[in-house]
Amino acid sequence: MLKPIVVVGSINLDLVARAHHIPRPGETIIGSDFQTFYGGKGANQAVAAAKLGHPTFMVGNVGDDSFGSELRQALQDGGVKTDAVKTVTGSSGVALITIGSSGENNIVVVPGANALLTPDQLEEAAPVLRQAGFILAQLEIPLDTVEYLGEFAAKNGIPLMLDPAPARDLPAALLKNVNWLTPNESETEILVKADVRGDDPASTSSAAEQLLASGPQHVLLKLGAHGCFIAERDKPQQVIPAFPIKAVDSTAAGDAFNAAFAVGLLRGESPSESARFACAVAAISVSRHGAQPSMPTLEEVEAFLE
Ligand code: RIB
Repeated sequence: MLKPIVVVGSINLDLVARAHHIPRPGETIIGSDFQTFYGGKGANQAVAAAKLGHPTFMVGNVGDDSFGSELRQALQDGGVKTDAVKTVTGSSGVALITIGSSGENNIVVVPGANALLTPDQLEEAAPVLRQAGFILAQLEIPLDTVEYLGEFAAKNGIPLMLDPAPARDLPAALLKNVNWLTPNESETEILVKADVRGDDPASTSSAAEQLLASGPQHVLLKLGAHGCFIAERDKPQQVIPAFPIKAVDSTAAGDAFNAAFAVGLLRGESPSESARFACAVAAISVSRHGAQPSMPTLEEVEAFLE
């Protein structure tokens, strides 16, 4: 039987302004469009996995404001089970996002309810977590909760995929409990404290080796238009190319990728096959606007791959 994916992470409302470019510090520009979307790295990953047809649970928090019930409903509409999503006192998480004309973005997240996701809450969610075939986490919830999750995953023999976003220094004890560490280019630079360029195989290879030496069992670098780079212990490194696509909004491309990569691995595909599938899912997501609404169904991915 297919074991579920359990995502532990953030649930946000995205406030999205589109403009010709992302303003520099101190610059005021006129935007072209404003929309709200359901987002949050955790919720995006959960919706992406569920839309690909995989049974998926979300563990997280929404606030008791008007956004909270909408955010929970959006998860349910996306096919995600929300029994382990709590409504807490205070505001829901929000993200202020600017999108430039090539689909590039910058994001400020105000965590709100996500900051109240404690290790105690994970203890309450243990019956859901224990069923997982893969646990997916990111860093928009308190770090001590992610550390607890790492210990829980290791103790229960469940693989943990950690998307280190937003990037920050991570404790060695947590990294040792990570099965797949999946930073993008800028997050890799922060983690290894060196320049990394997707079009420079020497820099990506050395960064991936450095990350592998820091503890995780496997490393996958998400390199946007340059595809992804897989580094596993005692195996040759692999580069999986991206699919060429006209990007309109890169928001949540990394979330789409992580969810699809976990879905592929749980279906028994190899890391390179799962990464190719994930590159397709991410490519479709960047060709559409918004975070959760950009996630494709399995049928759409199969049609794209044909
Ligand atoms: O990864 C994209 C997500 O980052 C957005 O949906 C936003 O909510 C932030 O969490």
